[in-house]
Amino acid sequence: MGNYIDTKEEVKNHLFARVPLIIINSSERERVERMFRELAAEMKTSIYYYTDVKQVVSLYGNAKKDVDRDPMMFVQDLFRKNRSSTFVIGDARRLSEENAFSREVLDTLYLAMETSSTLVLVTPDYVWNRLAQFGLQVVLQYPDLIERESLIRKFVGCYGGKYPIQWNEHDIYRAAMLLSGFSEVQIDNILVSQLVAHKGLKKQNLLDLTRQKSRLYATVPCVEEVQVKPNLMVSGLDNLRKWIRERKQLFFIEDDVLDEYGLTAPKGILLAGIPGCGKSYSSKMIAAEWELPLFRFDIGAIYDKWMGESERKMKDALTFIDNMAPCVVWIDEIEKALSVSDSGNDTGKRILGQFLYWLQESSKRVFLVATANDITALPPELFRKGRFSEIFFIDLPNSEERKVTIEQYAAKCLHMQFSDEAMEELVRASEGFSYSDIESVIKEAAQFCILNTDVQMDLNKLIYFFNQNISFSSTNPETVQKLRKWGRERAVSASIENKQEGSVLL
Ligand SMILES: Nc1ncnc2c1ncn2[C@@H]1O[C@H](COP(=O)(O)OP(=O)(O)O)[C@@H](O)[C@H]1O
Ligand SMILES: [Mg+2]
Repeated sequence: MGNYIDTKEEVKNHLFARVPLIIINSSERERVERMFRELAAEMKTSIYYYTDVKQVVSLYGNAKKDVDRDPMMFVQDLFRKNRSSTFVIGDARRLSEENAFSREVLDTLYLAMETSSTLVLVTPDYVWNRLAQFGLQVVLQYPDLIERESLIRKFVGCYGGKYPIQWNEHDIYRAAMLLSGFSEVQIDNILVSQLVAHKGLKKQNLLDLTRQKSRLYATVPCVEEVQVKPNLMVSGLDNLRKWIRERKQLFFIEDDVLDEYGLTAPKGILLAGIPGCGKSYSSKMIAAEWELPLFRFDIGAIYDKWMGESERKMKDALTFIDNMAPCVVWIDEIEKALSVSDSGNDTGKRILGQFLYWLQESSKRVFLVATANDITALPPELFRKGRFSEIFFIDLPNSEERKVTIEQYAAKCLHMQFSDEAMEELVRASEGFSYSDIESVIKEAAQFCILNTDVQMDLNKLIYFFNQNISFSSTNPETVQKLRKWGRERAVSASIENKQEGSVLL
């Protein structure tokens, strides 16, 4: 509803029915003018269109009249002389309340009724209800995906010969996805500024399109963009990564296809697990894999001591997020902000309610990555079907995952490679270590090398570093046990489980 074609059809029907007033809710003057120009041609009738700048233009044949007086005099004259005529005010203002002008418009509407004429008011604002009662209101939404695609294709066609343009059909589709929530003029301006800034349209600048978007909307303090390196090094978590790769296509698929199968785009995942195993890191991995901007939503920061303020801030934050779609939104340690005890705390309950409603109902392409350390503190409503697409449990890396992690970090930070036998020893030495433990041991060794240039790092020294380090699991065995029990019962494993390590989930 509300796209260009549907709106035009709706307006056409109202014109045929000779409704005295049509209010078009839109801030896109040029687009509405084009719509009426097309309607005039299709209906083979003269439609007069007025703006302060252009004065009166006939959209069928382009006759122009300067009206230096009040345009309403001209309209009334027109309605009296030509029954069944249509007059559009392209930039209707001062109509939200009773004043001399709105009363004059009201008089004109009585005349329109008598003469079967139609007055059209184009405005993004509220219209005084005594006027609004005369007619029908139509909303022209910003261009939808198909319109955006064709706008971008037209733009590429227009500048393709003059500038290097690397965007293929797929990139045009992605750009159209990213440019949701913009008017036609804004899309054109953004594309021109990209073209000038980068001397062409390059693939690697696609994400800049959304950067423009976060500048456009009033920012909210509890949602901030997180920069993600495109070549993030992730080890292990094969099951989670496979899921993410497979769902990418579904996330970007057109609405029509989803509707046809009664599906919705993937909404998000909840990641629970042992600290230091990549819960927070995974949100960056997903944004990088899907080539989407990442926003961090700090729900804890919306709580305010003033009555009703927290709810308002939550509403603003959710609206901002919806406007940023398509994007990945990351809520870290969600239990800290959304754990609501049964005793009192009404604000907390209302915030949770708002959040759950949004999670269930928002149709925007926002993929939520929520992480939790203490899952027992989470409200059970959060797990109900239709909220998260999947709940993953991230365990300590198994031997295969530790091997890959050591290999990757040793290559990056120590510029070292190990034989199979040496690797076996390192994997043994890192038993019970998290990804982050392994990373910090290898980085410690790298720092040691920088400070002691005369010492050569080798297998034994590295094993010494591993032995010096105390892993989280060795100091908190009960926590690990409890988390694993929960993970086995309630969640899907983020790793492809290693058959030889049947005891991974104790
Ligand atoms: N799967 C992984 N592959 C590579 N590095 C990882 C992985 N998981 C965690 N790390 C490293 O450990 C750091 C801490 O991980 P983080 O995601 O913050 O843990 P947590 O699960 O506690 O949120 C990350 O910034 C990253 O450098
Ligand atoms: Mg974390």
